[in-house]
Amino acid sequence: MKSDFPIGIFDSGIGGLTVAREITELMPHEKIVYYGDTLHLPYGQKSKQNIINYCSKICDFLIEQNCKAIIIACNTASCIALNNIKKKLGDDYLIFNVIDPVIKKIEELKSNNIGIIGTNTTIESGVYEKKIKEIEKNCIISSLATPLLAPMIETGFHDATIKRKIIATYLNHKKLKSIDTLILGCTHYPLIKKEINEIYNNKIEIISSLESIGRYIKNELKIKKLMTATKYEKKHEFYISDLTTSFQENAKSFFNKEIHLKEKNIFI
Ligand code: DGL
Repeated sequence: MKSDFPIGIFDSGIGGLTVAREITELMPHEKIVYYGDTLHLPYGQKSKQNIINYCSKICDFLIEQNCKAIIIACNTASCIALNNIKKKLGDDYLIFNVIDPVIKKIEELKSNNIGIIGTNTTIESGVYEKKIKEIEKNCIISSLATPLLAPMIETGFHDATIKRKIIATYLNHKKLKSIDTLILGCTHYPLIKKEINEIYNNKIEIISSLESIGRYIKNELKIKKLMTATKYEKKHEFYISDLTTSFQENAKSFFNKEIHLKEKNIFI
């Protein structure tokens, strides 16, 4: 019976819907319960303790929904709260983060000069550098906080010229001058991958958790015998802590399908 339970996915907002989309495309029979904490967005500007508290409440909610596994579809939360969540839910509970799939990919690529972009909190945490250094001692790593990008994407900012200028201003920073690989250390950034590729003339590798997270999770569910046995598409549930019409409109581009967001404030 447990294998038919849903997979819980959460993010600070609707950015994690990019991860949810990968999961549903690769495992169309799995049911998803999604929680986006739009009330506290952006996590990248919040204190560590607050991020830990928000994540703890969200995990309680997803457990109440009988989730058989939880995906932390937010780099900021993965950097700051993963250990607390593991401690809270215990070793046997399946918890996935968005950083380890990127590190696996880096292991395959053998890059020499890696750039990382993410929120202030993700970059300040140094988690990516630490994990990459453990597997690739000799490569050069440069990180740059790009705090305007997630709010710009989340609010569905569409002016192509201004958008490109903001992205280019960050990417033209001298720290990222000689990189051969760029890690998109935020689950919102795959939505501007096209613009990023254009700035680099398609000459560097651009990677995010999206390339391998689906396969990785599918494999883990198989090993734990937790893949659903039923072969029909389930009705997913999408909750956010603060609902606005703009989130409702943008959610479609994040998930690539029409979706209905329900407001549920679990913090009161
Ligand atoms: N999606 C979040 C991440 O991957 C970033 C957005 C935020 O600052 O809340 O880090």
